[in-house]
Amino acid sequence: MAEIHVTTREGEELTLAAKPGMSVMEIIRDGGVDELLALCGGCCSCATCHVYVESGDAGAAGPDENDLLDSSDHKRANSRLSCQIAFTAALDGLKVRIAPED
Ligand code: FES
Repeated sequence: MAEIHVTTREGEELTLAAKPGMSVMEIIRDGGVDELLALCGGCCSCATCHVYVESGDAGAAGPDENDLLDSSDHKRANSRLSCQIAFTAALDGLKVRIAPED
């Protein structure tokens, strides 16, 4: 089983089972991490699923995602909206940190 590593805002480190075909947001939410609000349900319109990619190649944010990230006070070079990262086997071991709430 593939997995991802998630650091919460409180610094707790979790390892969550991950399945290809899910978004990283879904993996985190289904893993019981309720601080990732994901209010829009994954349609790239709320930015409440903001994470920092700490290791692993999740690719770059798309233009719409980037526009939304620009509205965050906490945007960094490694910011992504986790609903826009499609998990694949190549991302096994991905490490993300949940960004502070805006
Ligand atoms: S869940 Fe709303 S932008 Fe990702």
